[in-house]
Amino acid sequence: MGFCSGFCACFERLKAGRGAGSARSDHADDALDSFDLFFDLHALQIATSFFSDLNKLGHGGFGPVYKGLMPNGQEIAVKKLSVDSRQGAREFTNEVKLLLRVQHKNLVMLLGCCVEGPEKMLVYEYLPNKSLDYFIFDKQKSGTLDWTTRFRIIMGVARGLRYLHEEAPERIIHRDIKASNILLDEKLHPKISDFGLARLFPGEDTHVNTFRISGTHGYMAPEYAMHGYLSVKTDVFSYGVLVLEIVSGRKNHDGRLEREKADLLSYTWKLYQGGKALDLVDPTLARCNPDEAAMSVQLGLLCCQASIADRPDMNSIHLMLSSDSFTLPRPGKPGLQGRRGRWTTTSTSAFSNTNASSGYTGATKASAGSSVVEEYSRNSMSHSSIDEGR
Ligand SMILES: Nc1ncnc2c1ncn2[C@@H]1O[C@H](COP(=O)(O)OP(=O)(O)OP(=O)(O)O)[C@@H](O)[C@H]1O
Ligand SMILES: [Mg+2]
Repeated sequence: MGFCSGFCACFERLKAGRGAGSARSDHADDALDSFDLFFDLHALQIATSFFSDLNKLGHGGFGPVYKGLMPNGQEIAVKKLSVDSRQGAREFTNEVKLLLRVQHKNLVMLLGCCVEGPEKMLVYEYLPNKSLDYFIFDKQKSGTLDWTTRFRIIMGVARGLRYLHEEAPERIIHRDIKASNILLDEKLHPKISDFGLARLFPGEDTHVNTFRISGTHGYMAPEYAMHGYLSVKTDVFSYGVLVLEIVSGRKNHDGRLEREKADLLSYTWKLYQGGKALDLVDPTLARCNPDEAAMSVQLGLLCCQASIADRPDMNSIHLMLSSDSFTLPRPGKPGLQGRRGRWTTTSTSAFSNTNASSGYTGATKASAGSSVVEEYSRNSMSHSSIDEGR
């Protein structure tokens, strides 16, 4: 961005109530950076009618989320971080600065933050169609998502995750891929939300809270649930569960169903082994593409393999989904043990220490005492997606 266009963008944002009083640097560049980053608390109060309940969109593990309207007409979503972060304001804003550079059409766009005293907030683009769980788990609404839309969502989430793992300025392991973290835009295109949140809360128990509140143990890879061992394949496992949920319109665990059907992964495996994979398809769907549906079931199972090495990476997954000629390997029994086990630890960082251009060990050890080690090259299968990003 040239200085002039940068200045104009700043000016537009200032007019919208962003940045007032927040730029502390004397340097023009730093000032531009700061203006790009900060929202004024008062502007957010006005935009959200003083965080009124009427504007509340929901409440997750990190705090409430409010809809806001800026003076320039832009709709925003403000996440008030009620979990106390031990990070100081400077570290927090540094992390936000980094996350602002993480942009892709299948990621919810972070617009900036607000830090005033102990209060910290994140400001996102507003997405009008709520989250995926709102549709797929509701029999009245699930029909809104026909097969073509569902397959597009499966594909879009794969693209977003591939970007986070392979192409973002810093590698990001999401750690909380689940239906409520997939938001839908006005055309029902998917956008992954809450990426990078773990990085904003280093050393905190926030993720434990998040999981407890939203009950997302069912998405967790066994090695992560049992040993706190974190790698990009942790996200792949959660993505696999999500794919099966999208195909079936069922939650990963449904205690109301008979025992053999209650756990989605076990049930899918049973159907697959019996050659009845298509029986999994959501009965509320009037039509579906059987080839795509069968492939999605197989892919979901592959992503949920017990052995980390048997799970494909997001590059391969994207290739499997987009190529007509790709033959998927046959999956073995998925990893079931430990997914519902007690959560014992948290990671100190969801990012690797290396940047996108370096060689990479694709795993971080989230718990002291875990002995699992996995190494693989980040370029095991390279595939360009420059045209797919923002
Ligand atoms: N950018 C956004 N645009 C529109 N709605 C949003 C946005 N971000 C969040 N929401 C809504 O707010 C609700 C709460 O979001 P939040 O991320 O806090 O909770 P969650 O996803 O259920 O749990 P978690 O804290 O584990 O992510 C979501 O279900 C979603 O409907
Ligand atoms: Mg969320």
